[in-house]
Amino acid sequence: MPAIPIKDHIFTIVGGASLVGSATAEHLLAQGAAEVRVLDNFSLGGDGAIAHLRGEPRLKVIRADILRLPELLEAYRGTHGVLHLAALMTLNMDRDPWTGLDVNIRGAQNSIEAARQVGAQKFVFASSNATYGYGPGIKGDLVETTPFHSVGAPPAAILYGASKIIGEQLCRDAFRKHKLDYVVLRYSTVYGERQHYRAANALYIIETYDALKAGRAPKVFGDGSETKHFVYVGDLARANAAAFESAATDVAVNASGPEAVTTLELVRLVTEIAGGGPAPEFEGETPGKVRLTSGGAFRIANEEAAKILGWVPQIGMREGLRRLITWLEEDRRRNA
Ligand SMILES: NC(=O)c1ccc[n+]([C@@H]2O[C@H](COP(=O)([O-])OP(=O)(O)OC[C@H]3O[C@@H](n4cnc5c(N)ncnc54)[C@H](O)[C@@H]3O)[C@@H](O)[C@H]2O)c1
Repeated sequence: MPAIPIKDHIFTIVGGASLVGSATAEHLLAQGAAEVRVLDNFSLGGDGAIAHLRGEPRLKVIRADILRLPELLEAYRGTHGVLHLAALMTLNMDRDPWTGLDVNIRGAQNSIEAARQVGAQKFVFASSNATYGYGPGIKGDLVETTPFHSVGAPPAAILYGASKIIGEQLCRDAFRKHKLDYVVLRYSTVYGERQHYRAANALYIIETYDALKAGRAPKVFGDGSETKHFVYVGDLARANAAAFESAATDVAVNASGPEAVTTLELVRLVTEIAGGGPAPEFEGETPGKVRLTSGGAFRIANEEAAKILGWVPQIGMREGLRRLITWLEEDRRRNA
C-alpha cells in the first residue's frame, strides 16, 4: 500500500531550501514526522528559507547536488518519502537553459533512481501547470488531460514546461519498470511566506505592491483581463503531505488555489492591502521581459486532487496576499 503516514516517518525534501520546501518541512514536522531532511545545493534557495525551523532536532539539512547521484544515494538512505522540488523555473531557464535542462531532467532522473535504489516507499514530484504550456491555446478549464500548447509562447516557458513533462514521464517509467510509487502534483503559481523573486507571476505581486508603496502606478499588461491562478504555499504543504498519506499512485493531479483572478482584480486586492495608491497604468509588451500569456480566461481545475487525494485548497487570494505582504514587510524590517 503506497500510503505513508506522516507521523513517525522520515521524509527527504529535495530542493528543500525553497518556497514550497520551507512550508512543507514545517508542516511535516508539525504533523509528527520522525525526521525531515532538507537537501539543497543552495544555488537558488538559502539558509533564510529554513531559518524559522532552526533548533528543531528532527530537521536535518544536507548540502548536496542532484546532478551527483552518489550524494543522493547517501542522503536518501532510510527515507520513507521523497518530495522532489529542485528545479529551475522559467526566468532561470531563460537565463541558463543548459543548467535548467540538466537540473530539471537529469537531476529528476537521478533523484528517482536514488529513491528506487534506497527502497523509498513513495516519490512525490513537483510539476507545474506549465505542462499545459502557454500562449493563445490556453483558455477555459485546464484539466489533467489538457494537451500542451507551445505556439506563441516564450521559448523559456516551453523549455520549462517540457522539462516538467519529461520529469513526470520519468516517474511513470520508474513505476512501470521498478514499481516505484509516485504522485505528480502540478502546482499553479505559488505565493506566500518566504516568497522569492524567481517566478514571474508571484514577482508581479511584489512589483505591484512596491510600486503602490512608492506612490507609482502599478503596470497592467493589455486590458488587465488576463487570468492568473495562484495557490497559497501553506495549502501546497498540505497537498504534498496528502500525496504521501493517500493510497494514490501513478497519477498526476493539479494543485491550484480556490479561485483564479484577473490581473486587474489582483491589482485591486494588492492596492486594498497596501492601503491605497495610484490607479494602474495599462501597457503593451516590454522588450526582453518574459511574460506568461494565455489566450483568454482560464482556470486550473482542482477537482481531481479533491477526489484522489482528499485535498482542497483553503486560502483565498485576499487572505493569502495579506499573509504574503505581512511576511514581506517583516522580512524587510529584519534585513534592514
Ligand atoms: N514557485 C512557483 O510558482 C511554482 C509553480 C509551479 C511549480 N513549481 C515547482 O515547484 C517546485 C518548488 O518551487 P519553489 O518556488 O519552492 O522553488 P525554489 O526556486 O524556491 O526552489 C528550488 C530549490 O532547488 C534548489 N536546487 C536547484 N538546483 C539544485 C541542484 N542541482 N541540486 C540541489 N538543489 C538544487 C535551489 O537551490 C532551490 O532551493 C519546483 O520544482 C518548481 O518548478 C513552482
